[in-house]
Amino acid sequence: MTFVVIDKCIKCKYTDCVEVCPVDCFREGPNMLVIDPDECIDCNLCIPECPIDAIFAEDDLPENKTEFIELNEKYSRQWPIITAMKDAPEDADDWAEVDNKMQYFDPGKED
Ligand code: SF4
Ligand code: F3S
Repeated sequence: MTFVVIDKCIKCKYTDCVEVCPVDCFREGPNMLVIDPDECIDCNLCIPECPIDAIFAEDDLPENKTEFIELNEKYSRQWPIITAMKDAPEDADDWAEVDNKMQYFDPGKED
């Protein structure tokens, strides 16, 4: 199994999750984070840290969010590692309650 960041993270990127991960699984894209499924040890520490509940165990993902398993896998191979918390975007709180944010997803420079 692995843990998965879903589109709720887009434009919020609070990064509280990064601080608690014991094995540095998080990777940082322009406007969201993903989890490297090869590194995640399913410790469950990150889920309660995210203030907007953007992280799920793979097995607990809502049916309409299963596409994020692949997205986390794909972008964890392209984006750089993030190991320390940083400031969220200034308007992060404005996006916290917005659903289905995939239209705002920024992959950064594709290889
Ligand atoms: Fe890291 Fe644990 Fe969260 Fe996996 S479940 S991303 S190992 S904190
Ligand atoms: Fe995103 Fe939540 Fe982490 S908003 S950066 S998954 S704390």
